[in-house]
Amino acid sequence: MSRLLLVSNRLPVTAEHRRGKLVLKSSAGGLATGLHSVHDPGKGLWFGWSGLNQKPGTDEAAESDEWKRRGCVPVPLSRTEVRDYYEACGNGVVWPLFHSLIDRIPLRPAPWDTYETVNQRFADAVAAELRADDVVWVHDYQLMRVPGLLRAKAPSARVGFFLHIPFPAVEIFSALPGRERILEGMLGADLVGFHTAGYMRNFAAAVERLLGLPVQDERVTYGGRQVRLGVFPMGADVARYADPAPSKSRSPRSPIDRRLLLGVDRLDYTKGIPRRLLAFEHLLRTRPELRGRVCFLQIAVPSRTDVPAYKRFRRRIDELVGRINGAYGTSSWTPVQYVARPVSQEQLVGLYRTCDVMVVTPLRDGMNLVAKEFVASRVDEDGVLVLSEFAGAADEMHEALLVNPYDLERVADALHTALQMNPDERRARMRSMRRRVLHDDAPRWARSFLGALEETESALPIEHERRTRTDLDGAVRRLVVRAAETASQRLLLLDYDGTLTPLVATPGLAAPTRSLLSLLRTLAEQPATSVHVVSGRDRATLDAWLGGLPVGLHAEHGLWSRMAAGAEWTRADVVPTLPREKDVVALIEDAVKRTPGTLMERKSTGVAWHYRQADPKLAAAELRRLRSALVTLLDGEPAEVHAGHRVLEVRLSGVDKGTAIAPALDGLPDGTAIIAIGDDRTDEQLFAALPPDAMTIYVGDGPSRARLRLSSVAEVRLLLVDLARSASGQWPLRASFTAAVRAGTISAASPTIP
Ligand code: ADP
Ligand code: G6P
Repeated sequence: MSRLLLVSNRLPVTAEHRRGKLVLKSSAGGLATGLHSVHDPGKGLWFGWSGLNQKPGTDEAAESDEWKRRGCVPVPLSRTEVRDYYEACGNGVVWPLFHSLIDRIPLRPAPWDTYETVNQRFADAVAAELRADDVVWVHDYQLMRVPGLLRAKAPSARVGFFLHIPFPAVEIFSALPGRERILEGMLGADLVGFHTAGYMRNFAAAVERLLGLPVQDERVTYGGRQVRLGVFPMGADVARYADPAPSKSRSPRSPIDRRLLLGVDRLDYTKGIPRRLLAFEHLLRTRPELRGRVCFLQIAVPSRTDVPAYKRFRRRIDELVGRINGAYGTSSWTPVQYVARPVSQEQLVGLYRTCDVMVVTPLRDGMNLVAKEFVASRVDEDGVLVLSEFAGAADEMHEALLVNPYDLERVADALHTALQMNPDERRARMRSMRRRVLHDDAPRWARSFLGALEETESALPIEHERRTRTDLDGAVRRLVVRAAETASQRLLLLDYDGTLTPLVATPGLAAPTRSLLSLLRTLAEQPATSVHVVSGRDRATLDAWLGGLPVGLHAEHGLWSRMAAGAEWTRADVVPTLPREKDVVALIEDAVKRTPGTLMERKSTGVAWHYRQADPKLAAAELRRLRSALVTLLDGEPAEVHAGHRVLEVRLSGVDKGTAIAPALDGLPDGTAIIAIGDDRTDEQLFAALPPDAMTIYVGDGPSRARLRLSSVAEVRLLLVDLARSASGQWPLRASFTAAVRAGTISAASPTIP
């Protein structure tokens, strides 16, 4: 039987020790209420923190029967872990940053190592329970590393991740320490879900900008797998609110003709409570006729009371309520009633049903279920919703009075409009919202996410579980080394950028390290072995970087060749200059001016426009414009426009990497092992020019005509080290290099491979 394993920071109930007894109470917040309807203790498990501080290693044995009955698996956290992972990292940094309130982030650096340790503990707990058919669904900002950590332990698991809070614009997200690791953690899932299209777009932009991975059609290839992104707006647990039976609980309002405005929130600075109260005060100041006739009831459930920003915030609201009541209240009328505690479900429904205006004005909110619960509760199809346009719910609730919560006067106007609205308009707006809210409820949200997760090409089938990408790389290495060992001669044709060194921001930063130079020298000095570096770089650069090695060099995609050490550079027999060169340069200069972060590279007979460091959207638009201008300009000329990895290049036609290495293939004895490795489209021409038994190897995930594939520059380096060792009998660096790659201290993404 397939089980659903939910994973969230908090369990649906929170435990507390009171006078020696364990007390369980419902957890507050949208995640807990939304997932409530999804969890079936008989058919799944819910992993999370119980709310208790525990010594590491303890297993809450005393309470275990109760947890079991509820289908819960508590993940124990110590007091220090709660402080560092939950309070300092999760709620101290990620929460304000993801809500675009970065001035709330404390100055003191957060202990990210504890965030990692706790995420690892969650991943371990899930992995320990995981069965072949299980579906794992990880939730929210406290556990963004879990999908990746779990994937490392269970490569074929089906894992979904849902973010319940906004994903901020990339400029803001970039301020997060260790931001790449967070993205990589989320990409461990098969499906990553968001409440709105805007949050998903922000995430895609962050993946493109910070990890350099293209996101196309809501898909991104990461770690050899396809990860899908999707929009799944969460619904309210409608069944709890929409029961037409009259609520037993009544609101506390007294005189019948007093109109009631209601706010219901977790006590959180993102909810906009102070500005909301100031807007109400503005209403009382500017519309004196309303004094004594309206009441604002603010219900707030205390939250994260140990986080300093929340303590300060609570005091601020107390003061504000006191000030407004002091200024406007009378012996028979208290303008703002403030209740800082949770209220029961019954009371909540009663309040939703009796108020005249529901005021939901967060400064930023992932979704906001209160707005939907209010609408679900209004069986009478009456009542007005004033809703912040910065809540995810605003995307679906256009019939509400949408407001900018920072524009105090307009919020006050909206409150006034709501109080004045005629019953027909109220009903029309409510009926239309209600239809949607009742239909798109929490169970439907969960079904739609889980349905989409089911459709993702999951991870490998179970029998292939062990055949991870690393194993495939290993198989390719073994195959090539074996073929090379038994061959009479060896010819190695190696691209440079993206093959021997990782792609870097600007071309000048890719100089070879000492260890790369020594590896190439060792290979080239093996008996019956010749090595050629076949690159798009200009002659001067190759000479400066690799000129001293006993290898063949080919520059500018084969325009220039130096067949062996000490030989002269010769130029391919093609026209001497790039046609229309001046115009080409002028077009590229214009593109550089228009697109910050891009740069022009001049070669002896060619020009390239690099856009790796530019804003991807801006660069994509410029790329289209520039390419079409260049193609038109060079129509009928012996030159071609060529797109590579974040580079657009103009070069002479009739010469390519294939034609360049033709002399090296001449007269090769039968039984020579030809090994060609490359990562770019220009390398495809090299692969095409080789005999069918050549071992052509493409580096990366994209399409290629090569017969074999390696996943990264680090794997290419391992192969070359293996080849060097197999020929020399011994290669002392190999063991330490292999260990470093495996340990992750050297990675393909690192520009400093030794
Ligand atoms: P968040 O997830 O940020 O807390 P949501 O509006 O999505 O915001 O969810 C809040 C949930 O908590 C709702 O289900 C709401 O009913 C509940 N809630 C909020 N305030 C109270 C309160 N004072 N008493 C009881 N429940 C509350
Ligand atoms: C929001 C978050 C949840 C969190 C809830 C309550 O809904 O998205 O992940 O559980 O607030 O916050 P707390 O810190 O008390 O768990």
